[in-house]
Amino acid sequence: MEESFARPVKHSQTTITELMIPSYANFGGKIHGGILLSLMDKVAYASSSKHAGTYCVTVSVDKVEFLVPVEVGELVSLHASVNYVGNSSLIVGIRVEALNVKTGITKHTNSSYFTMVAKGDDNKPMMVPKLILESKEDVKRFIEAMRMKEVKSKINEHMDDARSHLEVENAAEILKTERCIIDIHA
Ligand SMILES: CC(C)(COP(=O)(O)OP(=O)(O)OC[C@H]1O[C@@H](n2cnc3c(N)ncnc32)[C@H](O)[C@@H]1OP(=O)(O)O)[C@@H](O)C(=O)NCCC(=O)NCCS
Repeated sequence: MEESFARPVKHSQTTITELMIPSYANFGGKIHGGILLSLMDKVAYASSSKHAGTYCVTVSVDKVEFLVPVEVGELVSLHASVNYVGNSSLIVGIRVEALNVKTGITKHTNSSYFTMVAKGDDNKPMMVPKLILESKEDVKRFIEAMRMKEVKSKINEHMDDARSHLEVENAAEILKTERCIIDIHA
């Protein structure tokens, strides 16, 4: 692919709308989080592959918080677009909204970010087109995604360090205010 090749954000804008049917519900009558995750994965694929012009795979998912339950009968719309591109990676922002058709009220249930990687026919990561930022909002989202990537990388380094210094010998002291009981027999 030519290094100069570029596509605007609007090229990847994608919306999927789906009716929440009873078989999607959990025992409490609300929609399973897994149903929403699967729809989010689909829209992330659609949006990223439109930009990349090739097959994409999901690498990581950030900020999945279901703060408002979704009900059977609601129309869920997932709005996605590519917010950021690296070399072969793309970050897709997804806004999920649920519309109650009777009341006409739309609630925002969550916003999440999927990192996708474009793959070539050889199944190797492939360079994606540059992203053309045509509004201040596009620029804001690109910078936000870039910063989030930097923060994530620092957190991963911190976690690797924390994991290599886990003080299992001092567990009784470390966990004394936590709601667990240490009951090791072996
Ligand atoms: C993602 C995958 C392609 C990375 O392969 P790799 O050989 O490590 O490739 P690279 O190191 O060249 O990384 C490729 C890109 O992925 C990004 N990447 C790799 N691991 C990542 C992670 N954990 N989080 C975010 N981005 C990641 C790299 O930053 C790089 O981005 P860039 O090209 O924009 O700079 C590979 O691990 C894979 O195919 N995973 C399986 C994906 C899949 O099947 N998903 C479906 C769900 S099961």
